[in-house]
Amino acid sequence: MTEAGFDPASLVQSWPKPSKLRPIVTFGAGSIVGDAHFPAYRKAGFPVAGLYDPDQAKAQALAEKWGVTAFRSIEDATAVSGAIFDLATPPGRHAEILKALPEGSVALIQKPMGNYLGEASEILEICRSRQLKAAVNFQLRFAPMMLALKDAIAKGWLGEVVDFDAWLALATPWQLWEFLLKAPRVEIAMHSIHYLDLVRQLLGDPKGVHAKTLGHPNHTVAQTRTSAILDYGDTVRCALSINHDHKFGRRHQACEFRICGTEGAAYLKLGLNLDYPRGEPDILEIHPKGGSDWIAVPLAGEWFPDAFVGRMANVQRFASGEDTELISSVEDAWHTMALVEAAYKSSAAPAMPLAEKP
Ligand SMILES: NC(=O)c1ccc[n+]([C@@H]2O[C@H](COP(=O)([O-])OP(=O)(O)OC[C@H]3O[C@@H](n4cnc5c(N)ncnc54)[C@H](O)[C@@H]3O)[C@@H](O)[C@H]2O)c1
Repeated sequence: MTEAGFDPASLVQSWPKPSKLRPIVTFGAGSIVGDAHFPAYRKAGFPVAGLYDPDQAKAQALAEKWGVTAFRSIEDATAVSGAIFDLATPPGRHAEILKALPEGSVALIQKPMGNYLGEASEILEICRSRQLKAAVNFQLRFAPMMLALKDAIAKGWLGEVVDFDAWLALATPWQLWEFLLKAPRVEIAMHSIHYLDLVRQLLGDPKGVHAKTLGHPNHTVAQTRTSAILDYGDTVRCALSINHDHKFGRRHQACEFRICGTEGAAYLKLGLNLDYPRGEPDILEIHPKGGSDWIAVPLAGEWFPDAFVGRMANVQRFASGEDTELISSVEDAWHTMALVEAAYKSSAAPAMPLAEKP
């Protein structure tokens, strides 16, 4: 407890556990399933019935490693009754799988919700017409450091939030994701989308966005650097400065958020990105209302895999009626996709030109 009465250990850092569990059926046997989905589900004791991937050799190898069934067909996978269908598939494949799920199913869809806003709208329409209870896997919202941040804000330790800065200067190993090397939309659509989604959860929808996203002369990945300003009117400032090409040693690299309120502030380091996929520890410090110094919040877990535990816990609890809100439902996630789309449009449009000299 600090002199201002701030107790960092009292901040909520995990999602409540579900008391009833449904079996999980995963689509896709790619890297994110082995790196995060299955480790999280094992850690939390969530039962995995099996997985399906049209690449049967890949499916079989991952299924054997985790002791689950490799389904031979999409029909076998969708026949598991009362399952949570966990889509870890490329964004362009989500729609066809959702169409094959039984009406009224529960689904968790990996981000992004389609490659473009048009695909997000198609996914939304499929979910509506088939009455799917579907959420998008914006798991950063459930990272222990982010749950603690949101709890601190809700408890008033920052006052009114008026400033959000994301600053990334790091070297991201894009070669780990082969499908990204040729994708037309990379940085905002695949990476910064997590930050834009989190900003939406903290500050609501902006009125618009100014953005510039670009590649780098040293490689051919479509975009790896982004500057963006989200317009929240005249009280709240929000900016993202993102450079995945800062390959000059660890010393001056950064992956940080600074969130300031009228009476307090928060600083976060997202350690995972600084040495992906090994990662460094995350950091959350708060300068609370009425306090005179920064207080470190001891974190109860890391972004990976703990955020994936919370993400699935909310889906499970919503399915059984224990949670009334499905966080990042497709209805909500569509707006993050709209923000991404607006950022690409802004980037493609010319900026305000300077006046000609008379
Ligand atoms: N939320 C996060 O933090 C996060 C992190 C990484 C990746 N992702 C997302 O997860 C998804 C998968 O990423 P990845 O890195 O594992 O990709 P990956 O390329 O390693 O794996 C994708 C797998 O999906 C399979 N697949 C394709 N069509 C399928 C279908 N119809 N049914 C079942 N499986 C099918 C492919 O055969 C492949 O094995 C992508 O949408 C990506 O954007 C999210």
